[in-house]
Amino acid sequence: MRHLMSPLDFTTEELDKLFNLAASIEQNPSKYAHACDGKILATCFYEPSTRTRLSFESAMTKLGGRVIGFSDAASSSAAKGESVSDTIRIISCYADICAMRHPKEGAPMVAAEKSLIPVINAGDGGHQHPTQTLTDLMTIRSLQGRLGNFTVGLCGDLKFGRTVHSLIHALIRYPGIRFLFISPEELRVPDYITDMLKEKNIPYEEVIRLENVMPELDLLYMTRVQKERFFNEEDYVRLKDFYVLNTEKLELAKQDMIILHPLPRVNEISVEVDNDPRAAYFKQAQYGVYVRMALILTLLNIEV
Ligand code: CP
Repeated sequence: MRHLMSPLDFTTEELDKLFNLAASIEQNPSKYAHACDGKILATCFYEPSTRTRLSFESAMTKLGGRVIGFSDAASSSAAKGESVSDTIRIISCYADICAMRHPKEGAPMVAAEKSLIPVINAGDGGHQHPTQTLTDLMTIRSLQGRLGNFTVGLCGDLKFGRTVHSLIHALIRYPGIRFLFISPEELRVPDYITDMLKEKNIPYEEVIRLENVMPELDLLYMTRVQKERFFNEEDYVRLKDFYVLNTEKLELAKQDMIILHPLPRVNEISVEVDNDPRAAYFKQAQYGVYVRMALILTLLNIEV
C-alpha cells in the first residue's frame, strides 16, 4: 500500500507515467468513467478548502466512485477530542482511499502510519501540498511541453506558502531550473530551503521588487499572503497587498511566460489579468481534476 505525503514520494519516471495517465483521462474521459465503480474516497478536511476537496470529489465521481467525508473539523469527532490516528482507523473501515488536509504539519503522516488504506496529504499546515504540486507540474508540462530549463519566479508569501515549498522540492529534480524568490523581507523562503538549494548547487536569487526580474521569467507563480498562519493581524494587514500583478507590470514579461497561482487569490492578481493569454491559473485548477483522477487510480492500483 502506498501513500502520498510529498511530491518526492514519486520518482520523476513515476510522475511522467502519472501525467501521461492524466493526459489520457483528459483526452478520453469516458474510458475511465467506471474505473472506480464500488470504490469510496473519504475527504477528511480539518481546514477550509474549495479546490482541493472539490476536485478530489469531482475526480472520484468522474471515475464512477463515491465520496464520504467532512469539510470542517468542528463537524467531526475531532471536536470531541478524537485523535487523527483513531479517526483514520475508523475511516479505513468505511473507505478505500482518504485525502486529508490538516492545519498541523505532519498530521497526514501520522494518519498514514496507522491507516489501512492509502492516505493522500491534501495540505498540512505550512509544510507541503503535494497534490497541488502535481497539478502545477502537469499544468507546466501541458502548456510549455517540458519540465526543465526554466527561470521560475515565485512571488508573495514564500515563508508560509506550502505550495511553494512543495513546488521547489519537485522542480529541482529537473535540469536547468533557476529560481527567483520575490518576497518582502518578512516572508522570505525558509532557510532550510535555501540551504538545500546551496547544497545542491541550484541557482537562486532573493529579490523584493517583482518589476526588476519580470523580463527574465519563464514561469511566474503568484501566491496569496497566508492570513491564517500569521500570529498578528497588524503584520498581515501591512503585507497583504505587497504585490499586485496588473496588466501594466505584465508589459515587462515575456510573451510566452505563464502565470500560475494555486488559488484562492485575494488581491495579488488583478482581475484584468484574467483575460491575458498568459494567465493559466484557471486551466491549472482544471488540470487538478485530471491529475487527482490519475493519482486515485495509481494509489488504488487500478489499470484501465
Ligand atoms: N489550491 C488550494 O489548495 O486551494 P483550496 O485551499 O481551495 O483547496
